[in-house]
Amino acid sequence: MKGTFYGIGVGPGDPDLLTMKAVKAIQKVDIIIAPKTEKKDGSVAYNIAKPYLKDTVKIVYQVFPMVKGFEKDDAAWEKNKAEILGFLNDGKNVAFLTLGDAMFYSTYIYVFRLLAKEDITVETIPGIPAFVAMGSHLGWPLVEGDDVISVIPATADKEKIEKVLSVSDNVAIMKVYKNFKDIAEMLEDKGMIENSIMVSRCGLPDEKRIDDIKAHKNNAVNYLSTILARRTPEK
Ligand SMILES: C[S@@+](CC[C@H](N)C(=O)[O-])C[C@H]1O[C@@H](n2cnc3c(N)ncnc32)[C@H](O)[C@@H]1O
Repeated sequence: MKGTFYGIGVGPGDPDLLTMKAVKAIQKVDIIIAPKTEKKDGSVAYNIAKPYLKDTVKIVYQVFPMVKGFEKDDAAWEKNKAEILGFLNDGKNVAFLTLGDAMFYSTYIYVFRLLAKEDITVETIPGIPAFVAMGSHLGWPLVEGDDVISVIPATADKEKIEKVLSVSDNVAIMKVYKNFKDIAEMLEDKGMIENSIMVSRCGLPDEKRIDDIKAHKNNAVNYLSTILARRTPEK
């Protein structure tokens, strides 16, 4: 019998935030695929799940080059797919670990698309996305009543970000590490900077919280950083 492929969201950092389903699956698998990208978020996912790994589990590192316009016939990805299919055909259960939620800005989405077309069972297990964990962690209500929240990747087109900021009551801004200064200035223009906060590496041992984004805007920020901002101050 063929093995099952699990895509597992491990949450943003605190190992206690894995779901029961994620932990059960992690303890069931024979092989863990630890993705290696230039951003190293894959190895963060592996470290979060480490307390739950059984001694006999085999760790297989795979490199997933994240080039824009990724083509499904890219050689490295096809090689990874063939290796995973080989394990599954040998009856092994395989897990791919991913930070936060599996279907939310994740390398796993591409892996899922490659494997979902094959004659295998794929099970995706959701995880808590970073911005959702931050709401509870900071005591920062994310939305209430008729509020609109928008999730904005800071890598998006500037005009688009400005439009979304204009119509949203609350925002979660992800991938801020490259365009942090631009984002800080846009929040300032929209009158939202006083009601914003950033957390880097939420739930990880070296978590950092930045309350004054304006004062910090010329500093470099960690890749795992998310901003929460709102139009009106918290009551
Ligand atoms: C490629 S996306 C992965 C998102 C992930 N799948 C999720 O559900 O949160 C990477 C972005 O997620 C956010 N992120 C992930 N983990 C984080 C953490 N522990 N603390 C703060 N932001 C985090 C950051 O904005 C980072 O640039």
